[in-house]
Amino acid sequence: MERSDKTKGVRRTSEGRDAVFQNLKGRIEGRKARIAVIGLGYVGLPLAVEFARSGFRVTGIDTEKKKIDRVNSGNSYIRDVPSEELLREVGAGRLEATGDFSRLLEMDCVSICVPTPLRKTRDPDVSSIVSAAKQIAKYLHRGELVVLESTTYPGTTDELILPMLEETGLKVGKDFFLGFSPERVDPGNKKFMTKNIPKVVGGVTPKCSEVAVALYKCSMSSVVPVSSTKVAEMVKLLENTFRSVNIGLVNEIALMCDKMKIDVWEVIEAAASKPFGFMPFYPGPGLGGHCIPIDPFYLSWKAKLSGFEARFIELAGQVNSSMPYHVVNKVGEALNSVRKSVNGSSILLLGVAYKADVDDIRESPALDIYQMLTARGAEVSYCDPHIPEIKTDSFCAKAKPLTADVLERADCVVITTAHSVFDYKLVASKAKLIFDSRNVLKGVRSSKIWRL
Ligand SMILES: NC(=O)c1ccc[n+]([C@@H]2O[C@H](COP(=O)([O-])OP(=O)(O)OC[C@H]3O[C@@H](n4cnc5c(N)ncnc54)[C@H](O)[C@@H]3O)[C@@H](O)[C@H]2O)c1
Repeated sequence: MERSDKTKGVRRTSEGRDAVFQNLKGRIEGRKARIAVIGLGYVGLPLAVEFARSGFRVTGIDTEKKKIDRVNSGNSYIRDVPSEELLREVGAGRLEATGDFSRLLEMDCVSICVPTPLRKTRDPDVSSIVSAAKQIAKYLHRGELVVLESTTYPGTTDELILPMLEETGLKVGKDFFLGFSPERVDPGNKKFMTKNIPKVVGGVTPKCSEVAVALYKCSMSSVVPVSSTKVAEMVKLLENTFRSVNIGLVNEIALMCDKMKIDVWEVIEAAASKPFGFMPFYPGPGLGGHCIPIDPFYLSWKAKLSGFEARFIELAGQVNSSMPYHVVNKVGEALNSVRKSVNGSSILLLGVAYKADVDDIRESPALDIYQMLTARGAEVSYCDPHIPEIKTDSFCAKAKPLTADVLERADCVVITTAHSVFDYKLVASKAKLIFDSRNVLKGVRSSKIWRL
């Protein structure tokens, strides 16, 4: 396939280069620009739909054939994207999916939404970004905007992606444009979604910023321009580090209150009555999801390269990752109080998703609790209507329905995720012993209920 240079005939003089910029901006503002979204997961699919909804023709590119087929048949696999909406965009010819990267030749704008996990050593794994950037470089053409949206360490756009794209001989800010815009979506949040979460945007050059801001202004309710890609990358890491550290603090307070026999939940509720200077965070069985447990370590890794030790991040990580052990120990104490041991007991976990009302088990602390209790000899099972099956490298299990019989059979019920569909009245009345790590049974007084 030939490179489709929409600026063919435009000379590579400074005038010509300005024409490249004006042409792209005009195509974006006139909704004529073709947009590719690479990576159609929790972030990429809602973004692709949002671009399509605002009138652009969008092509999603993914390496998973199942996702491609489902997008093309309007059958959504992301809860926040109803199938009817997907079908509407696909049916109108504004959205399609493919695994063919050569389609990048037709695109004016490309958003990269691929995963950024940690390696076992807790170092960033940016291999998906590198592989997407290689494909973009292969098909890069004049008048193209590339925006990285994956959460990553400050410097990724400038130090990793930019050299790969400039190796083609094309110049950033002149022939093509490059920026970073962190995705801040909160799956399951009904109030703030892709469209109405302000979009922070930073470009490699002022022209890169301008053209990226123009793109997001077409589809998002508000755009927050910042001076560089590094600032934009750092914004996202500050937000998630803020959460991780505050959750770490409140988890430590919970461990402290446990020793001092003080009800931490009552303390937080009363402290939250202060109308200024306090923001409540809640303790729990540990951090989960693809962001909070991972992103701060992208930052501490990069800070270390500059000779800086990010102490809050490391400490919060230690406290937060100790919480599943704490839950397992408390379950042991609870069983002990009724003359039972973990070994040989039947333990039912309520909820294995990493947070309430989502169907995502990535990094979920419930998986650690499941495995630790199993290793101590318990017979573990779980209820979670959002996760019918667990398949990990370490174990596989199938969900049980939440019935009176299932609750009565368990020696201990552990509330690990506060899904709103659970019938907590039934849980409180039928379970013999309960460990509530989320305070969902707040206000229910019973000696059989243990709280975090
Ligand atoms: N999930 C969230 O709540 C959330 C929120 C904000 C930011 N983020 C960040 O957004 C990024 C994406 O996260 P996600 O939750 O959407 O991940 P995801 O795993 O749900 O989706 C990623 C998609 O990218 C595809 N993919 C992987 N490598 C690819 C490649 N080289 N080329 C094309 N497709 C490829 C995968 O098949 C998958 O469909 C991550 O950096 C994450 O930290 C996630």
